[in-house]
Amino acid sequence: MSCVIYLDSIEKKEALNKISEYLHFEIVKKVPVKGAFLDIKDNGLCFTLNSENPSNYLNIDFLSGSMGWRLKRADHERLLKKTLGKNIDTLTIFDGTAGFLSDAMIFLAQGHKIIACEQSKIVYLLVKDALARAKGKIPYLQNLEFLNDNSIEAFKKLNNIDLVYLDPMYPETKKKALGSGNINSIKNILEIEKIENKGDLLFYDFKKLHYKKIVLKRPIKANKIDLNINYQVKGKSTRYDIYI
Ligand SMILES: C[S@@+](CC[C@H](N)C(=O)[O-])C[C@H]1O[C@@H](n2cnc3c(N)ncnc32)[C@H](O)[C@@H]1O
Repeated sequence: MSCVIYLDSIEKKEALNKISEYLHFEIVKKVPVKGAFLDIKDNGLCFTLNSENPSNYLNIDFLSGSMGWRLKRADHERLLKKTLGKNIDTLTIFDGTAGFLSDAMIFLAQGHKIIACEQSKIVYLLVKDALARAKGKIPYLQNLEFLNDNSIEAFKKLNNIDLVYLDPMYPETKKKALGSGNINSIKNILEIEKIENKGDLLFYDFKKLHYKKIVLKRPIKANKIDLNINYQVKGKSTRYDIYI
């Protein structure tokens, strides 16, 4: 699978040139006949997986839609809140699987500091673009540091992290778990970037490092991947295994 950058107007040239340099993707001036492309629409940077189906594109938005709604009532997100424990202090959380930043944004809205790390350059740019659009409109964004790196390497350089939050891609065989549109988009993007989905292995890598607490998000029925869980927080379809 390949991806190009579609330039449809000269005003977008500078912004798209920067993206092209970052990703090393070619800029084209006609909508590609086949395959994936990135472009800038009225709502910001967008990723289209299949140019034959251009109305189905991905755009991250923290100000409206489902994420905007969740952020406005972030205090009701009791499950994520519970995973942090009874401590009411402001925590510094390292999100090692940032993705579209949905979970990290809820933690931020609940008053915590976040260092979030995403390995995919395309996902990173889509989220960065959404953050730029939300700047000045969401005050707690000042408590966010967003990195484009391998989270194991990024974490090794940090001190004073209260909690590591991990939401690895669910195992390939769990068709139900992969049903979500967002997760399928990430899967396709990782394929374009030729990034191997290491799934749960990421957890084992973090377990070898020095940490205070790890929260691992899992499908509710998934096997325990380590028997030394200290406690669990369970929802309808998701479970959080907490290791101290
Ligand atoms: C299931 S998604 C996370 C979704 C995220 N919790 C959210 O709320 O949007 C997993 C993400 O972790 C990223 N990821 C997996 N391993 C990583 C690593 N070693 N370093 C950085 N990011 C990683 C993947 O690229 C993917 O975007």
